[in-house]
Amino acid sequence: MRQKFVVGNWKMHTTAAVAGRLTQAIADGLGSDTRVRVVLCPPFPYLALVGERLKGSRVALGAQNLYPAADGPFTGEVSPTMLLDLGCQYVILGHSERRHTLGETDAFIDQKVRAALAVGLDVILCVGETRDQRNANQTEAVLDRQLGQGLAGVTAGTLARLSIAYEPVWAIGNLSHHATPQQAQDAHAGIRRRFGLLFGEPAAQALVISYGGSVEPEDAAALLSRPGVDGALVGGASLHADPFLAIVRAAS
Ligand code: G3H
Repeated sequence: MRQKFVVGNWKMHTTAAVAGRLTQAIADGLGSDTRVRVVLCPPFPYLALVGERLKGSRVALGAQNLYPAADGPFTGEVSPTMLLDLGCQYVILGHSERRHTLGETDAFIDQKVRAALAVGLDVILCVGETRDQRNANQTEAVLDRQLGQGLAGVTAGTLARLSIAYEPVWAIGNLSHHATPQQAQDAHAGIRRRFGLLFGEPAAQALVISYGGSVEPEDAAALLSRPGVDGALVGGASLHADPFLAIVRAAS
């Protein structure tokens, strides 16, 4: 039985004041309920502040990115150990905004996954096709490629610290075009099949696969009740406590 998993990805939003208030409201709202694993991923500058507010709560801290080196002349970048120092347990890698807006390749994402796992961070690896790729019936091929290359550095010993987020690019930040529960279920089944070929059936059955792409409280229950949809990677709706808490409740 896979525990449901809900991650709030604040992207490049909030201020210090908003981040503090939002964290407090979410931590208070969740109380001691441990049915769903919950993670907040604020922007880098607010990691310490959010981590401080999360102390004693059941919410974990995650980062939105890292640079795959221990240290060195990489101006503006943040290393895996710096994230650990700040109290991060998770890191989101391969997000479509980094793939498509910032030009990250599968090979670079592979390096990041290896670097994160090597220091003990839990990785949330994002995969997903664009609208054009879906229309050209390339969804499976794209997911296979992203998984094959993104998971090249994953070993049996690190499998338990990995989850996948299926994020169809056409559904992100697009309330009028989010995936239907059936589309999410089908894509998740394909990801799990592929994962099974790479790592074996027991690992595939243990793998947590979350859906991301305009998840809102209204559709969360329908998505999260589908077989194989184990969680949600929430962007916009994680920027306010009430909708985010409603999504966590829908996952319970
Ligand atoms: O990381 C989150 C996803 O990109 C989804 O974002 O819920 O704003 O569509 P969204």
